[in-house]
Amino acid sequence: MRLVNTVSELRDAVRVWRSAGQSVALVPTMGNLHAGHLALVNEAQKKADRVVVSIFVNPTQFGIGEDFETYPRTEAEDRQKLNACGADLLFQPAVSAVYTSDAKTVVSVSGLSEEYCGALRPGHFDGVATVVCKLFNIVQPDVALFGLKDFQQLTVIRTMVRDLNIPVEIAGVETVREASGLAMSSRNGYLSAEEKTTAAKLYQALCVARDAILAGSASFQEIECKAMLFLQESGFQPDYFGVCKASDLKKAGEDDVALVLLAAARLSKTRLIDNVCFSRNPQSCSDAFLSKAD
Ligand code: PAF
Repeated sequence: MRLVNTVSELRDAVRVWRSAGQSVALVPTMGNLHAGHLALVNEAQKKADRVVVSIFVNPTQFGIGEDFETYPRTEAEDRQKLNACGADLLFQPAVSAVYTSDAKTVVSVSGLSEEYCGALRPGHFDGVATVVCKLFNIVQPDVALFGLKDFQQLTVIRTMVRDLNIPVEIAGVETVREASGLAMSSRNGYLSAEEKTTAAKLYQALCVARDAILAGSASFQEIECKAMLFLQESGFQPDYFGVCKASDLKKAGEDDVALVLLAAARLSKTRLIDNVCFSRNPQSCSDAFLSKAD
């Protein structure tokens, strides 16, 4: 696997592939790679001839007091993992290679970026949309892959690509979970062993809520309240639990079919997010619909 740190080296490499008629996939990451990231690389290999992985801890998506400085940076291990799974190129730029010091342009997907995680992390999704738009312009991939775990991020990116006519296919990849059901995340490393056991209850809450919706046993509002209470009683400080339309993340109504349950909760200093996405129509049931808690 080739490692490049500058935009011009990256563009030269992509130009050579393009002139040989090869297609290119991009997997944007912030490093500290785990099985969830490697599943993205695996899917990328099925979709394109060449796979570029970017590792860039993007300062503009971290708020004041968040963990930008301490975000886990595990460069040597990440390179080994990417080599082992056969990625073609690692793009690992310095902040100065991505942002000019007097940059004046921000990409903002209004509305969607201010809800749920965006309400608690003002500016976060502007930082994500801006850096992902820049990565798309730098790499110009045919396809880019993102984890379904960050469902709101995926929706922000899909909306940006639609609104700005960016010629790239966006592929969402199923969340990879620990045996306990806990969604893989770089921030799981902040959890103690005891907190990790509790953390798995976030997915449990989502699955119980999904099953209650499918059984038609309660109103969406009741289901949200019960889930918030369950999380509180399990030791979390829940931020939100929402029954939403999978298409635009607006509050779901009783007639909506494609749903996503979005949840975020804190365990001491660690903020966890997770979701389940499913259809109420058995005719269009997805893998997510079929998956059950533990
Ligand atoms: O999901 C992430 O790791 C980041 O938000 C992303 C998409 C790489 C943008 O910095």
